Amino acid sequence: LAVQDLAGQVVLVTAGPTREPIDPARFLSNRSSGKMGYALARTAFRRGARVILVSGPTTLDGPPGVQRIDVTTAQQMYDAVMAHYREATVIIKAAAVADFRSREESTEKIKKDQASLVLHLQQNPDILKELGARCDHDRQLLVGFAAESARFAEEGRKKLHNKQCDLIAVNDIGSERTGFASDANRLLVLDNRGYMAELPYVSKERCADLLWDHIVANNFLRS
Ligand code: C5P
Repeated sequence: LAVQDLAGQVVLVTAGPTREPIDPARFLSNRSSGKMGYALARTAFRRGARVILVSGPTTLDGPPGVQRIDVTTAQQMYDAVMAHYREATVIIKAAAVADFRSREESTEKIKKDQASLVLHLQQNPDILKELGARCDHDRQLLVGFAAESARFAEEGRKKLHNKQCDLIAVNDIGSERTGFASDANRLLVLDNRGYMAELPYVSKERCADLLWDHIVANNFLRS
C-alpha cells in the first residue's frame, strides 16, 4: 500500500485533449494522449485522495476508484469543472484544452467543391484562468500545466502570474523523449513563492508521484 499522504484531500484533475466540431465528420483537436493527467489521478487515488477526473476523449481506461466525467469540447470541460471545483482541495489542469473552436458547426458535411475554405475560429474560455480568479487560494491548491518548446522557465513564470496559479508544471513538447504521446516526461515546477524545481526524466506514472512528493514535501497542501 502506498503512503496515504493525500488522505482527506479531494483532487480534481483534467486530462486529455478537447475536440471542437466543424461538421458531422470533422473536428479540431491536438496531440494530447491524456497519459499525464490519468497518471496524476491514479497516483492521487493510491495515496488516499478522493479523485474526480474530467477527461476529454482518450483511449485510456479510467483508473479504478476514480470518478471520471467524460467531456468532448472545451465548453463542456469548462462546465464540468465549474460544477465540481468547489469540492476540491487540489485542482490540477493537465488537459490540453483547444484554444479555439469553429464559430459555427455545420449541420451538413462541408464539401470540397471550392478551392479554398475559410474557417472562422473563436476563442474558447480559459478554464485555468477562470479558476485562478474564482478559487479560494487559502483552501485550494491550483496547479496548471504549460506545454512549451522553448524558454521554459520564462513561459512558465508568465503563465503562473497570468492565470493566478499556485504551481505550474512545464513540459517540454519539443522533444521526442517527453511531450504528448510519450510514456515518459520531465517537469519543471515553478511556484508562487518564486522557486523552481527540475524533476528528473522518468515515466509519466513516476513523474506524477514525484509531483505529488513535491507538493507534499514543500507543504503546498492546504489541509
Ligand atoms: O495558455 P496555455 O494553454 O499554454 O496554458 C496551459 C494551461 O492552461 C493548462 O493547465 C491548461 O489545462 C489550461 N488551459 C485551460 N483552458 C484553456 C487553455 C488552457 O484551462 N482554454
